[in-house]
Amino acid sequence: MTEIYEAIKRSAARIKEAIAFDDTGYSENINSTGDTQLKLDIKSDLIIEEEFAKVACIKEIVSEEKEGKTPLHGDGIYSIGYDPLDGSSLIDVNLSVGSIFGIYEGGFAGKNLKAAVYVVYGPRVELVIAHENVTLYRLNQKGEFVLIKEIKLGAKGKLNAPGATQMGWEPRHKALIDAIFADGYRLRYSGGMVPDLHQILLKGGGLFSYPATSDVPKGKLRMIFEVFPFAFVYEKAGGAAIDGKMRLLDLTPSHPHDTTPCFFGSQTEIERVKQCYAK
Ligand code: F6P
Repeated sequence: MTEIYEAIKRSAARIKEAIAFDDTGYSENINSTGDTQLKLDIKSDLIIEEEFAKVACIKEIVSEEKEGKTPLHGDGIYSIGYDPLDGSSLIDVNLSVGSIFGIYEGGFAGKNLKAAVYVVYGPRVELVIAHENVTLYRLNQKGEFVLIKEIKLGAKGKLNAPGATQMGWEPRHKALIDAIFADGYRLRYSGGMVPDLHQILLKGGGLFSYPATSDVPKGKLRMIFEVFPFAFVYEKAGGAAIDGKMRLLDLTPSHPHDTTPCFFGSQTEIERVKQCYAK
């Protein structure tokens, strides 16, 4: 596992440079989700693939930027699902973006996740590793990721990050979000999953939701590259992550790009979501 973390650290340092200085424009390619790829999406994906190709324990990888799986090493044991540059549409307004990695053993299902890692490219570059516990690292001037602290969620937070198009929300979802705001929670939503979930984790708790809506009945966020890794991080930090009713890590996608409604938060907020969605 250490070799995988080291490959992710090398990728992150290279992607940070690309974000800082490369062309931020679009390429002529469309990815499997139907989004036109930024040149930076393509470059970040190539960087990660190049770094993972050096690690013998990785059997196969699947990227948000590619349709299918890419086999790497026949004797490898780990399968890695990753989103090389999540929230990349925020690059042109200079907001934070991130990379997300799920490290699976035995195939791409929530129950097979062994570790999750994400990188936030913000004013500073931070990296979070979730394995037995959840630890925060920060890139220093020498290009090393220095351990900062262990991350633990409080039982109840103060932030609310409600995603998706509001006019497509179900009435019960709108009632839940309204009730949470009525209890004094503050709105924090940039439109980048990585910085939005990172903020809730570091500020002690709250709720991030991306529900089923009339325009995206199965949600927008992808299980293998986005939802499972963050569900793992939140659970290991003492929080919880559900699709409204079920634990997210009990789901199994039938296609690499399958999506699901998702809710991540501290225990108190997730309990509220369960009560709302049980109706
Ligand atoms: O999946 C891409 C993404 O940009 C996530 O990073 C983010 O949480 C989400 O989409 C935002 O979607 P919306 O603008 O529909 O709330």
